[in-house]
This record gives sequence, C-alpha cells and structure tokens, in this order.
Amino acid sequence: MSWGDGTRSVRAGEHDPVAGAPLRPSPVFAAPFHLGDLPPRAGGADAYARTEHPTLRVFESAVGALDGGRCLSFATGMAAISAAVLACVGAGDRLVLPSDGYYTTRLLARDELERFGIRVDQVATPDVEAYAAGGGFEGARMVFLETPSNPLLDVCDIAAVARAAHAAGALVAVDNTTATPLGQRPLDLGADLTVGSDTKALTGHSDLLLGHVSTRDDALYAAIQRWRNNTGNTPGPFEAWLGHRSMSTLDLRLARQAQNAAAVAEVLAASPAVTGVRWPWREGDPSSALASRQMLRPNGVVSAELADEAAVSTLLAAAHLWNAATSFGGVHSTVDRRAQWGGDAVPAGFVRLSCGIEDTADLVADLSVALAALD
Ligand SMILES: Cc1ncc(COP(=O)(O)O)c(C=O)c1O
Repeated sequence: MSWGDGTRSVRAGEHDPVAGAPLRPSPVFAAPFHLGDLPPRAGGADAYARTEHPTLRVFESAVGALDGGRCLSFATGMAAISAAVLACVGAGDRLVLPSDGYYTTRLLARDELERFGIRVDQVATPDVEAYAAGGGFEGARMVFLETPSNPLLDVCDIAAVARAAHAAGALVAVDNTTATPLGQRPLDLGADLTVGSDTKALTGHSDLLLGHVSTRDDALYAAIQRWRNNTGNTPGPFEAWLGHRSMSTLDLRLARQAQNAAAVAEVLAASPAVTGVRWPWREGDPSSALASRQMLRPNGVVSAELADEAAVSTLLAAAHLWNAATSFGGVHSTVDRRAQWGGDAVPAGFVRLSCGIEDTADLVADLSVALAALD
C-alpha cells in the first residue's frame, strides 16, 4: 500500500504493534551495553552506542523510509555532508561542488578537503548541466548538488545530472535539506546519496542539531558507516528520539509553511521596497518549471532583496512575528540577512525568509505593516 505524506511522517520505520509496548519506543540511554558472555555483537546485541544504539536504529529506519534508502544519522548536517564526501573521495580525487550552496559546505572544501589533496571545482547550480555537457564531470569522483540551493533557491535537474555523472564514472550526492525527504526523493531520481541537515524542517522546532545520509548502495552504506564509527559523529539517544518524535508532524508543518510562503511571496512581490522575490513554486520563478516537475511538494523558504542593510533593520524593527534568526524550516517565522555571515555572494539587503507555521493571515498582516515602514 502506498501511504500519503501524513501517514508516512507518523508511521515511517514502525514495526508491527506489540501488546504492552509503547506506541513509540522510549529512548535507551546507554553508552556501553551488557555483553554477558557473548562476543561483542553476537546475535545482534548492542555493545557500544558510538557504532549503533536502539534509539538510533528506530530513527534511521524512519528517515530512510521517507528517503527510500538506508539511512545513517549524524550529529549535524555538516557531519553528514563530511561523511558523504570523505567516505567516498580521497587524495588526488576531484569533487564538483555548488558555488551557490550552503557556505559551510564550501568552507569544508576550502579549509579541509583541499588540505587533504582533494581538488574541488565549484559550479553554480543553474549551470551544472551545461558544465556536464562540456565534459566537466570527466575525471570527477563525486558530483555534489544542492537543489533547491540555499539561499538563492535555484534548482538543477537531478536525473539529468546523475546520468551525465554516472556516464563519467562519478558518484552523485544531493543536499536535500531545503526540499526535505517529503519534498524531493533524490535516490528515485538517480542520485547515489541523499544528505540533509535535519536541524532544519525535518525536525523543525529549532531545538535540535541532526543530519543524515541515505543510500540504496550497500557498499556506500558500509563505507559511510565505517566513517561514522571511526570519526564518532553519532547522535545520542535523546537527539535520535526527539528527532523521530519531531518528524511525525513534518507533513503538517510543511503544508502550513508552504501555504504561508505562497502568501508571503505575493506580499513581498507587491511591495515597491522589495525586488528579486524567489520561491520555486511561484509562477514565473526561474526555478518553477523544473521544481514542479522534479519535486513532490513546496516548502516555506523564500528569498528576496531589500534596498540595503538599514532596510532589513527597519523591517525587522517594525515586525512582531518576523524575527532575525539564521537557519530555516522551523515553526517560527524568521528573516536572515545573509550578507552578515560573509559566506554568500549576495547583496547587503538580500534576505532569506523562513515561513513558520503561524496563521497565514497573521504573518501576512505583520509583514505588510513592516513593509509599509519602508515606504
Ligand atoms: C543546505 C544546508 N545544508 C547543510 C547545512 C548544515 O547543517 P547543520 O547546521 O545541521 O550542520 C545547512 C545549514 O544551514 C544547510 O542550509
């Protein structure tokens, strides 16, 4: 039976009910486990929680079910991205990376990967197909995509890129953070790995750091699991349990966030103080044709440009429901002036808005009042 997103958000990874057991298993707080007189891991018994633990297994089976692959969970999104890259790419290899993606992924390349002899070539998300057609993937070990890209919200065709990458002998990993596993299934589109910062919408309450990698390839799974065992980026039981609990409402949260984003994008576009509104599901958006073909549903991340830094400050001072904060995908509506972080090539007044789950009418009214302060 193929279930809808609401059912899958709640039921993904669950086993048949056992009389007397809780509906959701409680976290098992343990580092070592009793071994008894068995050799470690004989009979599948847990031994030490850095490699695996019962709460993590439940969470991973839930996230993996949404992704359509086997999941390995990590302490943060960056830990997951590092694992996906470093378990597969080594000294002398070449990695193709988005030049317009999450800036810490680029810092990872600049400050760490290149130090270990990995050559990194950066390509903007909208240009990656042309880059492949020009032979850019030849000799690459991995093509890493981020679509929709953060914060510009450009998209690329995962299936077309995967075909070109595989023809050139390269692996494809997709940072699926902005879309979430309900919004896009990179493994179905031919990617070898899908990675995500579960700090964002997957868990969605701005109180957790988590990340994951999923794959259908057993050898890649084993390599990434070995990387996690050796480097020790495993989430503990409380995080795994809370992550699982939080993702139960993913469908509901995404639906409200997308509804809010659709309304907010129109309010922004109607304001003379705003230019360059981006939301991949807005008619006429440069990403809309491909997003609606490739993606399964919209989300709540919108970007736009105000005149300058002072305009962003004025807007935030006049708003009650729009708070200055980085990150996105949470239940609160937030505005992040990206240039303040120094990593993105964006103008001083460029903002990423993360639409939360407040009432649409309240967010629209509050934003309209704040925008009027810019007149
Ligand atoms: C697209 C994307 N990928 C990865 C990350 C890193 O996630 P984390 O902060 O959980 O390490 C972020 C964080 O903002 C992100 O936006």
